[in-house]
Amino acid sequence: MVQIVKTISEVRDIVKAWKRAGHQVGLVPTMGYLHEGHQSLMTAAKSENEKVVVSVFVNPMQFGPTEDLASYPKDLDKDRQLCQQAGADLIFHPDAAEMYSADFCSFVDMTGLTEELCGRSRPIHFRGVCTVVSKLFNIVQPDKAYFGQKDAQQLAVIRRMVRDLNIDVEIIGCPIIREHDGLAKSSRNSYLNREQRQAALCLYRAIKLSQQLMQDGERDCQRISAQMTALIEQEPLAKIDYISIVDADTLSPVEGINRSVLCAIAVYIGKTRLIDNIVFDI
Ligand code: PAJ
Repeated sequence: MVQIVKTISEVRDIVKAWKRAGHQVGLVPTMGYLHEGHQSLMTAAKSENEKVVVSVFVNPMQFGPTEDLASYPKDLDKDRQLCQQAGADLIFHPDAAEMYSADFCSFVDMTGLTEELCGRSRPIHFRGVCTVVSKLFNIVQPDKAYFGQKDAQQLAVIRRMVRDLNIDVEIIGCPIIREHDGLAKSSRNSYLNREQRQAALCLYRAIKLSQQLMQDGERDCQRISAQMTALIEQEPLAKIDYISIVDADTLSPVEGINRSVLCAIAVYIGKTRLIDNIVFDI
């Protein structure tokens, strides 16, 4: 059975022993309530490292005051089973107090990239993500760490943080895993009732539409966004947060598509905020 530890010192001792034995270590950071999306990261990690650590920690620092920290879903037994199936070796499941002492006052803050897309409606989010992920890198000291393309901005931000701060870890991006009807898998999908679950398909439809337009040769971002907006606005339960087409590396807006771009959307279905994206490689 995969082992669960709650303290930093336990993780350090176990990882040190692995490294002494010459093992490569992969890290999969998560907030739990795991699904096949998370599992695909673990499978990738296991195929490239002898040992895999999965962190399960709902990081309070990345939630805004009106967001879903208190209601974020949890099921550690199921998480443990999923980790076991995917061949993970260790679950790091700290309490908030283990990660943040009462007088904690050091943060990893990034400008630019974090102010676009989700950063507009979640201004403190990426500070929390960068701070916790850099702590996890320091605690586990993995050779490689695995992140999903589902959170495209998070992946770009983590890559930049690792580059800027010379953190000695290789970042591996993994493709989006979807439900059978196309909805990107997310722990937050559990908030949706049946009607909302149906409405949530407008995100995937909009992403597919942008892909079709691109394939048909459309290169004008405004025209693509306008058609995506019109499609989502047909769904009464949906409220658009943003539809953006940006440079895939810098996340700065582009007008015409003449390089690799990220088309990313965030849409509220009721109170649940869902995201999806696609990369167009030119
Ligand atoms: P969480 O939302 O639990 O996601 C953990 C990892 O799983 C992220 O890298 C995310 O992109 C990936 N993931 C989620 N759904 C996926 C899907 N459908 N397909 C592929 N990958 C998917 O992202 C976080 O947690 C947190 O911000 C964290 C990085 C753990 C920092 O607290």
